[in-house]
Amino acid sequence: MKNKILIFDTTLRDGEQALIASLSVDQKLRIARQLARLNVDIIEAGFPVSSPGDFESVSTIAREIEGPIICGLARAIEKDILTCAKALKGAKRPRIHTFIGTSAIHTEKKLRKSEEDIIEMVKTHVRLARRNCDDVEFSAEDAGRTGVDFLCRIVEQAIEAGASTINIPDTVGYTTPEHFAGIIDQLFNRVPNIDKAVLSVHCHNDLGMATANSLTAVSHGVRQIECTVNGIGERAGNAALEEIVMALKVRQDLFHVQTDVNTKEIMRTSKLIREICNMPVQPNKAIVGSNAFSHSSGIHQDGVLKAKKTYEIMTPQSVGLKENRMNLTGRSGSHMVRSRLLDLGYSEKEIENSQFYDKFKELADKKGRVYDDDLIALMESKSSDDLKDVFTLEYLNVASGKSTVPTATARILVDGKLFQEAACGDGAVDAATKAIDRIVGYKLTIEKYHLEAVTEGREAQGRVSIVARSAEGVFTGNGTSTDIVEASAIAYMDIVNKIARMKKFNRKLPVPPRESL
Ligand code: KIV
Ligand code: ZN
Repeated sequence: MKNKILIFDTTLRDGEQALIASLSVDQKLRIARQLARLNVDIIEAGFPVSSPGDFESVSTIAREIEGPIICGLARAIEKDILTCAKALKGAKRPRIHTFIGTSAIHTEKKLRKSEEDIIEMVKTHVRLARRNCDDVEFSAEDAGRTGVDFLCRIVEQAIEAGASTINIPDTVGYTTPEHFAGIIDQLFNRVPNIDKAVLSVHCHNDLGMATANSLTAVSHGVRQIECTVNGIGERAGNAALEEIVMALKVRQDLFHVQTDVNTKEIMRTSKLIREICNMPVQPNKAIVGSNAFSHSSGIHQDGVLKAKKTYEIMTPQSVGLKENRMNLTGRSGSHMVRSRLLDLGYSEKEIENSQFYDKFKELADKKGRVYDDDLIALMESKSSDDLKDVFTLEYLNVASGKSTVPTATARILVDGKLFQEAACGDGAVDAATKAIDRIVGYKLTIEKYHLEAVTEGREAQGRVSIVARSAEGVFTGNGTSTDIVEASAIAYMDIVNKIARMKKFNRKLPVPPRESL
């Protein structure tokens, strides 16, 4: 236990608190199941007194989820604690987490209580929680801005009253690693019964230091970290679980501790949270961002090709990704492009004879990112005619509305002849792509659809990116327009033209497995 760090996940409580729309019981249960698979030690499932929905979520998770401790939050108020205990009734391993504000700003302005009143409230409510549950955690809210003498007294009394975990939250993300370490050191040095409890931290990210503060606390003896998946939470969020867990694993040489988290489930959990919480992750987010294992510059790609460790401190597989990604752009060196062409099945001789690198540079300058199908087209084309689009969308009309079955009519030019088809669909985009399918005759499954506004205001341009799978491989198509249905149709046409070229060259792309990112 001395070297084990308990991972307390509060995605369903602090994380959920920050979402625009609260999650349903079913959504929370799906997340809790995945957190159990990730093998966190404690799941904070919600704040039962806050709403009937939260009560039901906590009690359902308490009944259904085995493995981790299931925890509910309660203010140091009798009703909160009794409601929390009731919600946790079905749990094999329940925990009540009770808290009260302890900084001057909280006690004077929010609670309007003296320090002595606060100490009495802590004693009374920790005891009450203990009478209802064997496992009680106490948090001194805003501990980061609490006078340390008072904090030491509170912590001593909470332990005396029966709390077995003491949590020190940096509620407003105010501390810095050195400052926070000072608070932790004082608690260890001055609270006489500190060895009777596990010391925990809960850091917010307002100054971007939540992970650094949590890790520093570990170096100073803390043995529980509270965190959320993707770092979601109030304002700038909480310490990110994936950053904490991977930092402790990758820098075991510094920390000499371990967690029980199954790191191979990190990516799957992160994606589930993005999807259910409707909260995207920035591409450069540590560990789980889409660029976290991508290499773009020529120097880096060359280094990774020679030895992965030159630019990778952890493997993509260790967080549940299949492989790293080399983005082919104008910055990619000839070494990298050659290696990708070899992967696509071209021989050294074919590559040598093709003057591939000059052609690649020209294409990358025009397109930005170069995909596998672009490389194949570049190798196979005998003249610029070979690269021209086979299908041209000449006309698209879509009817949709509240009491209208979405219907689309498309007209496409193929070899100088116009073809027209109409189709109904589940929505305007579905109808449009079905009408296109009827003309081109390809069987396609859309795997990803992403829409973003590229300009602001009512006349905003929408950029649509579609990933679709066919017998020839998985293709990405992009389209931009002020009309999102049109942008979608352009992206879809981009894909069908790529497939047409693959068919013409009699080539297939290596098909990535469905679950790879
Ligand atoms: O940030 C905070 O102080 C909290 C407590 C309730 C632990 O979320
Ligand atoms: Zn918090």
